Amino acid sequence: MTDHSGVSFLGMGNADADYSSRPSSARIYDALLGGSHNFSADREAAKRLLAMLPAAGEMARANRAFLHRAVQFMLDAGVRQFLDIGSGIPTVGNVHEIAQSRVPDARVVYVDIDPVAVAHAGEILRDNRHATAVQADMRFPEAILGHPGVRRLLDPDRPIGLLLVAMLHFVPDDDAYPAVERLVASLPPGSYVAISHGVSETAADAATDGVADLYRRTDVSTATGRSRAQIMRFFGDAVLEPPGLVWVHEWPSGGDGAPGDMAVVAGVARKP
Ligand SMILES: C[S@@+](CC[C@H](N)C(=O)[O-])C[C@H]1O[C@@H](n2cnc3c(N)ncnc32)[C@H](O)[C@@H]1O
Repeated sequence: MTDHSGVSFLGMGNADADYSSRPSSARIYDALLGGSHNFSADREAAKRLLAMLPAAGEMARANRAFLHRAVQFMLDAGVRQFLDIGSGIPTVGNVHEIAQSRVPDARVVYVDIDPVAVAHAGEILRDNRHATAVQADMRFPEAILGHPGVRRLLDPDRPIGLLLVAMLHFVPDDDAYPAVERLVASLPPGSYVAISHGVSETAADAATDGVADLYRRTDVSTATGRSRAQIMRFFGDAVLEPPGLVWVHEWPSGGDGAPGDMAVVAGVARKP
């Protein structure tokens, strides 16, 4: 990274970025979901990932469905503003579409490190006064919290839904824990935190080294599953809503408890 504030703007992005030849985690995920905002290097990486983790596409879809249910849950709880970090490339059922279909002036700020993700989100949101997309790195939470788009749209005195969905496994411990702690500390009481995360206790373990190696060649430096205890630490003092931290397809209910090839867990917590 060349910009150590953690924030860059479209048109002023990383000079060394070569979007078409180096895969990115956002575009690999888009390819897994069958989206069209990816290049051949991303599709190639997605194919290699599927060879190591055949359930990767299923996991991506299950994760996306969790995101939808978590946003609906937060809306039911009265949350009217969302900070979606590691939001990815817009695809079916984006957070602002879900939220604004129920609450037309619901506020949504998307944050992603990937310039392609942010550019597409920016296009979709051009005429949306209540939502914006910011290119930033979650390892620099002050830059996110102080960003003009965040300050303009999110009222720090009213509950916020913080979404960290399928993204923290791309951030090493030394950065991830302090950054999430700072972000959660910034939320007012009554806010919610939704996290989904790759877990390192399943059949996917066998693929761990290969997957980490694959992502090392992308825009993120790592892809590391964590144990449930390590994932729980991210919630800090926020209190997990039932049923707690469970397989991503089982939140908040359903599923038969059999993990199959599932390697992602999820939970939603409320800040007292
Ligand atoms: C697997 S996608 C998840 C997208 C979306 N949250 C979802 O669940 O559908 C992970 C996203 O995290 C983003 N990401 C990875 N590291 C990041 C960082 N340090 N700061 C911000 N975004 C990051 C990637 O660019 C990618 O778009």
